[in-house]
Amino acid sequence: MDKKNILLCVTGGIAVYKAAALTSKLSQANFNVKVMMTASAMEFVTPLTFQAMSRNDVYFDTFDEKDSAKIAHIDLADWADLIIVAPATANTIGKLANGIADDMVTTTLLAATAPVWIAPAMNVHMYDHPAVKKNIETLHTFGHRFIEPSEGFLACGYIGKGRLEEPEKIVNLVQDKLTKPSKQPLQNKKVLITAGPTREHVDPIRFFTNHSSGKMGYAIAAKALELGAEVTLVSGPVTIPAPAGVNVIQIETAEEMKIAVMQHYREMDIIIKSAAVADYRPAVHHSEKIKKKDGAMVMEFERTADILKTLGQEKEHQILVGFAAETQDVEYYAMKKLQDKNADIIVANNVKQEGAGFSGDTNIVTIYHRDGSKKELPLLSKEKVAEALLLEVDKLIKQKVQGQDLL
Ligand code: PMT
Repeated sequence: MDKKNILLCVTGGIAVYKAAALTSKLSQANFNVKVMMTASAMEFVTPLTFQAMSRNDVYFDTFDEKDSAKIAHIDLADWADLIIVAPATANTIGKLANGIADDMVTTTLLAATAPVWIAPAMNVHMYDHPAVKKNIETLHTFGHRFIEPSEGFLACGYIGKGRLEEPEKIVNLVQDKLTKPSKQPLQNKKVLITAGPTREHVDPIRFFTNHSSGKMGYAIAAKALELGAEVTLVSGPVTIPAPAGVNVIQIETAEEMKIAVMQHYREMDIIIKSAAVADYRPAVHHSEKIKKKDGAMVMEFERTADILKTLGQEKEHQILVGFAAETQDVEYYAMKKLQDKNADIIVANNVKQEGAGFSGDTNIVTIYHRDGSKKELPLLSKEKVAEALLLEVDKLIKQKVQGQDLL
């Protein structure tokens, strides 16, 4: 197989030393690697290190044209099969989101048509800043993919999310993307997965929620990524880490989940709604703590939006997969949901069954299709359930394509 070309854009943070390791590991994995650096990146590590690791020239000055027959930043943008920005600082993320091109990295990124993967690394509070979040969200809409930072000790002394993902994991993602196309039925597919619980607030102290751990949805996200998809994960509050390489949108309430899902719906090929979304929320959200009184308390609830139903009503080309968490008459309710929500597949689990449903590492599901067929799966790990489900989705996509060909 031809060697694939990777342009690694290194911007200025303490994690630049990890970018040197990443360059070395990508080269060892048989990729052609060229490195481009910002001025601040060169404050941490010199270009010579990257030159030695990549066995290629290192680029940092837009006006230093090494070959008069070419314009370097355009040539490099065209050369790359994949561009990785690692570490990506808040500054470069902000410039890219706003179309600013004032150095070689940002100029090249604006000229690029290859996929762009961004691996942020910064202080935990910087990463949580609304401006950074907004810029990341904007870059998602441009089709850029994020390799989420991991949690741990940060150079600034804080513990939290902000560490550049480990070079080995980034190399695995690159290999999945560039060298395993035959095993990847979901290549070029955009998949949105919802996972975890929602929280519906009563007052600043209390909320209503459910037992969802996010394990089912996160397993689907990881498997979809492995099968080649570009994955967006809309997640309620959970304690498990998101798979590296997934675009994560954190939400709390059903309303926030609806906004996030609807914002991305049109561009998606597949939607999988494994989240346990609250059907009701308190009719009033008290801004101060409700003080206890003698006697019973009565609280009024109102319906939340039915996101799956809305998706079904607005469905165009997308494959829509819903879940059904039931405790009785599972098949009846699953088939009813298929019809009522205009879903293509319903994955039903009886959450009273030992080994099924919430929190555990296993599930027992039946996958129902619109044509009345069903696939009953035994007790399996959530990873295996995810794989079986995605292969059913792939089968459905292929059937649809064949159907269209016949028309
Ligand atoms: O997260 P885990 O601990 O791994 O647990 C996995 C799980 C039990 C949460 C998962 O397997 C599951 O069953 N998810 C669906 C839970 C659920 O809310 O089921 P439901 O039957 O109430 O809802 C039916 C469908 O409508 C679901 O796809 C749900 O995401 C969706 N829904 C529900 C309410 C609402 N307001 N909007 C929705 O879109």
